[in-house]
Amino acid sequence: MAHRCLVLFAVIVQSALSVRINFTSCQDPEWTCVNNLPNELVYSCAGVTGNEFIIHLKDYYTDHITSVTVQNCNDLRVVLDCPILQRASQLQRFKVKDCDRLEFVSLSATSLLQTPPEVTIDNVKAIISLPRRMFKSPTTLTELKCLGAPKLKSIRISNSKINTISTKAIHNVTGIKNIEFDNVTITDVRNQAVEAIMSSDSMFTITNTLIENFESKGITVQGTSVTISENTFEDIKGGALNVTADNLHVTGNKFKEINANGFVFKSVNTDITQNEFSKLKANAFNGIKCQRKRNNKKHFTFKQNRIISLEPHGITFDYASCKSAGTAVTFSGNKIDCKCRNIAFLKTSTTNTELHNIILDNSNNNTCLSAPCTLPVDIVKILIDSDMCQLTLDPQVMCLLYSDKHNQEVTTDEDVTEPAPTFYLIRQANSPRGDASAAMTALDKDDLLKDTHLNMTNRTAIKVVFDSSKDFVETLRSTSTSHKRPAEEPKSPPEEYVNRCVGAQCRNNVAYDRQKALDFYKYVYAQLRPPRPTDNKKKKT
Ligand SMILES: *[C@@H]1O[C@H](CO)[C@@H](O)[C@H](O)[C@H]1NC(C)=O
Ligand SMILES: *[C@@H]1O[C@H](CO)[C@@H](O)[C@H](O)[C@H]1NC(C)=O
Ligand SMILES: *[C@@H]1O[C@H](CO)[C@@H](O)[C@H](O)[C@H]1NC(C)=O
Ligand SMILES: *[C@@H]1O[C@H](CO)[C@@H](O)[C@H](O)[C@H]1NC(C)=O
Ligand SMILES: *[C@@H]1O[C@H](CO)[C@@H](O)[C@H](O)[C@H]1NC(C)=O
Ligand SMILES: *[C@@H]1O[C@H](CO)[C@@H](O)[C@H](O)[C@H]1NC(C)=O
Ligand SMILES: *[C@@H]1O[C@H](CO)[C@@H](O)[C@H](O)[C@H]1NC(C)=O
Repeated sequence: MAHRCLVLFAVIVQSALSVRINFTSCQDPEWTCVNNLPNELVYSCAGVTGNEFIIHLKDYYTDHITSVTVQNCNDLRVVLDCPILQRASQLQRFKVKDCDRLEFVSLSATSLLQTPPEVTIDNVKAIISLPRRMFKSPTTLTELKCLGAPKLKSIRISNSKINTISTKAIHNVTGIKNIEFDNVTITDVRNQAVEAIMSSDSMFTITNTLIENFESKGITVQGTSVTISENTFEDIKGGALNVTADNLHVTGNKFKEINANGFVFKSVNTDITQNEFSKLKANAFNGIKCQRKRNNKKHFTFKQNRIISLEPHGITFDYASCKSAGTAVTFSGNKIDCKCRNIAFLKTSTTNTELHNIILDNSNNNTCLSAPCTLPVDIVKILIDSDMCQLTLDPQVMCLLYSDKHNQEVTTDEDVTEPAPTFYLIRQANSPRGDASAAMTALDKDDLLKDTHLNMTNRTAIKVVFDSSKDFVETLRSTSTSHKRPAEEPKSPPEEYVNRCVGAQCRNNVAYDRQKALDFYKYVYAQLRPPRPTDNKKKKT
C-alpha cells in the first residue's frame, strides 16, 4: 500500500513539472540539427521523460537560429511573449507537428505577443485556441525585432483540430502572403476571428475543413486568390464570410443554413460550383457582387450546386453589379428545391427579372431537386398559371404536368385543336391502410372506384382526362386502369380518351375542363394529405 502511494506521488510531481524546451547543443539526443549546424533545429519530445512541455519562443530569438520544429509531444505549451531585444531575431519559421495537445499562452495579459513570420502546425489532435492577437503584423519596434521580418509571411494549419479561433486571432496581418487551413476541424470561429487584408499575389485557402460554430463577421479576407473547397460548414450567420478577391473559388462545400447576407463576396472572377446548400434563407446571397477591374475577361459562375431548401429570393445575388462590371454570368446546371411558393419569385418578382430569366431559361439546365424526371425550374410558370402554386405538390405530379405541357407545345396546333386538360392524382405508395380510401368517401368512393376499377390501394398515379361533355363520374369511368406502373404513365398516350372536339368552340370547354380538373385535384389532394389539427376541429363543429 505504502509503495503504491509513493508511485502515485511520483506521477503527480512529474506531471506538475513541465519540461522547458531549451536548446543546448546539436549533440543532445532530443535535438536534431540540419547539417549539424545550430540554425535549423528539430526537437522531439519522444524519448524525453515528461508529458508536459513548454517552449518560450523568445529563447529562440537569437542571432543564428532560423527555424525551430517541435514534434511528438503529448502536451505542448508555446509562450508567445515578446521581450525587448537588442537585435532583430533571425527565427523565420516555427513548426509544431505530431502532437496531442497544443496551447498558446502568454505570461501576462499586457504582454506584447509575436510569432515568427512563418508558422506551421500539422497533425495536432487538439489546438486549444488561436488566441487574440496571436497573428499580426508588428506595430512596435519590439514586435518588429521579435518577428525578424517586416511582415508576416504565412500561416498553415493542417490535419488538426482547433477548439476556438478567438476574436482577432488573425488580425491586421497586412502584407501576409499565405493563409491556409487544410483538413482541420474548427469548433468555434468567433466574431472577427480572422481579418486578413493580404498582399498582392496572396493565397487564402480553406480546404477539407469542418467549421462548426461560425459567428457573424467570423472571416474577412481581402486577397488575390481565395479558395474555399471541400469543406463542411454548419450555419452561416449574416456577414460570416466576407471575401474580396481577384479570384474566388467556392467549390464542393456543404453548407447547412445560409442566413441573409451570409456571404459577402466581391470578386473579379467568382466560381461557386458543386456545393450543397441545405437551406438558403431569404437574401442569403444578397451580399454577392462582382468587382469591377480592368480585365478583358471576367466571369461569375454559379454551376452544378444543389439547393435542398430555398426561401424566396434566397438565390438572388447582385446581378446588376456583374452587368455593370462587364462580367460574364453563368447560372447553370443547378438542382434546386422547387416548392412553388418558394420559387414563385422567379416569375412574379418585378426586380432582378433579368437574373431570374437566366435561371428559368431551359437551356441553362437548372432543374428541380429530387424530381423523378428532369424537371426544369421553369415548371413554376405552369404552376402559377394554373393556380396550383399554393399546393404542396409531389414532384412526380409536377413531372406529369410538365411533360404534358411540353408535349402539347410540341405536337398541337392550337388553332385547330386544344387538347383536353389532363389531370393527375398521386398518393403515397405506402401510406397507411385506410388513409386514402377514407379520404375518398366524400366522392362516393365505392361507386366511383369500383365501377372504374380504380384501385387506390395499389396505385400511385392515375391519369384523369377531363372532358366537359361528361361529368366527373363518367370521366373517371372512362379512365383506364390498365397502367400499373406510374413511371410509364407520362409516356403512354391517353388512348382511353380521345378529344374529338375540334375548332374554336372547344376553347371555352377546354378552359372549363381545366378549371374543373383543377378544382377536383385540389379537392382530392386536400383529402389525401395528412389531416391537420384544424381539420379535426372543423369536422366536430
Ligand atoms: C537551458 O539549459 C542550459 C544548460 O542546461 C541552462 O544553463 C539554462 O539555464 C537553460 N535555460 C533555460 C531558460 O532554462
Ligand atoms: C485529416 O486529419 C486527420 C487528423 O485530424 C487524419 O487522421 C486524416 O488522415 C487526415 N486526412 C487526410 C486526407 O490527410
Ligand atoms: C495595423 O497595423 C498597422 C501597422 O502595421 C498599424 O499602424 C495599425 O494601427 C494597425 N491597426 C490595427 C487596427 O491594429
Ligand atoms: C467586408 O469586408 C470589407 C473589407 O474587405 C469591408 O470594407 C466591408 O465593410 C465588409 N462587409 C461586411 C458586410 O462586413
Ligand atoms: C444543358 O444540357 C445540355 C445537354 O446535357 C448540354 O448540351 C448543354 O450544354 C447544357 N447547357 C449548359 C448551359 O450547361
Ligand atoms: C385493391 O387491391 C388490393 C390488392 O391489390 C385488394 O386487397 C383490395 O381489395 C382492392 N380494393 C378494391 C376497392 O378493389
Ligand atoms: C400492386 O401492383 C403490383 C404491380 O401490378 C403487384 O405486383 C403487387 O402485387 C400489387 N400489390 C398488392 C398489395 O396487391
